[in-house]
Amino acid sequence: MSYPRIDLSGALVAVTGAARGIGLATATAFAQAGAYVALGDLDEALAVRAAAGIGERALGHALDVTDKSSYAAFLDAAARWRGAPLDVLVNNAGVMPNGAFLDQADRIDQLTMDVNVFGVIHGMRLALPGMVERGYGHVVNVASLAGKFPLKGLAVYNASKYAVVGLTAATRLEMDGTGVSVSAVLPSAVRTELSSGIDYGILPAVEPEDIAAAVVRSVKTRAAETSVPGYVGLAANAAGLVPEPLMRLLRAAAHDDAAITRVDDDVRRVYLDRIEKQ
Ligand SMILES: NC(=O)c1ccc[n+]([C@@H]2O[C@H](COP(=O)([O-])OP(=O)(O)OC[C@H]3O[C@@H](n4cnc5c(N)ncnc54)[C@H](O)[C@@H]3O)[C@@H](O)[C@H]2O)c1
Repeated sequence: MSYPRIDLSGALVAVTGAARGIGLATATAFAQAGAYVALGDLDEALAVRAAAGIGERALGHALDVTDKSSYAAFLDAAARWRGAPLDVLVNNAGVMPNGAFLDQADRIDQLTMDVNVFGVIHGMRLALPGMVERGYGHVVNVASLAGKFPLKGLAVYNASKYAVVGLTAATRLEMDGTGVSVSAVLPSAVRTELSSGIDYGILPAVEPEDIAAAVVRSVKTRAAETSVPGYVGLAANAAGLVPEPLMRLLRAAAHDDAAITRVDDDVRRVYLDRIEKQ
């Protein structure tokens, strides 16, 4: 596989869910690499403020990834802003409700699949045709190690991220020969509001900037999957080879039910209230 090199200097990059967390760190990293960045977010005011914080290389815009026409308006605004087509799309927006599967509300399940899965599908359907026509472009889907490794208390989130991993792998193959790449970045736990209040124990927590660096790096490497930290990705891939009784012992030692049992409800409530209002 070979892809035409993408020069980030002056390139146009769109990042979804960019008002805070991993999306904001990613937008900032792209701007620092010389790109122009469109930050889309459900929280328009925060996206505009975040873009102002980055400077003149950034544009903040309203975006609801679950609504294809909103997504199209965001991408149009980005292209009009620069008078140039999109070079890189980062599908980052996501939500993570937690709790026992049997306690979850149907509408929160629906929201999770709408944002985490259909948001990514909409973005690729809208951005890929132009990239294919030009024979040039890169899409990064921010999945999760929860797209490779099931965790108690995150069943529907697991389902959504497994979907993104599969979607990314299949579309990557379909793009063969077009010059366009599709990659997945799989973070472990990251210190953002999304994971706030959950004590994952031995699972390593990284900073949003670590994920941002991996996303920017993928423009050069075009790697199919990049896990952060890398060794957790190796462990997740190898886990399927471990006999189930042994894996249960390892899971218990690692508190694999943290998303149910090791939750600071007061802290977590702030995040859950935010996604409840979406
Ligand atoms: N934080 C972690 O531990 C972690 C781990 C693995 C993967 N991830 C993934 O990384 C991505 C970013 O997560 P984060 O931790 O930065 O979360 P975050 O909650 O800090 O930020 C997510 C942003 O997405 C926005 N958003 C939500 N729904 C949207 C919609 N419908 N349209 C547009 N914007 C929307 C929110 O307003 C918010 O600004 C998500 O896809 C998440 O699943 C996070």
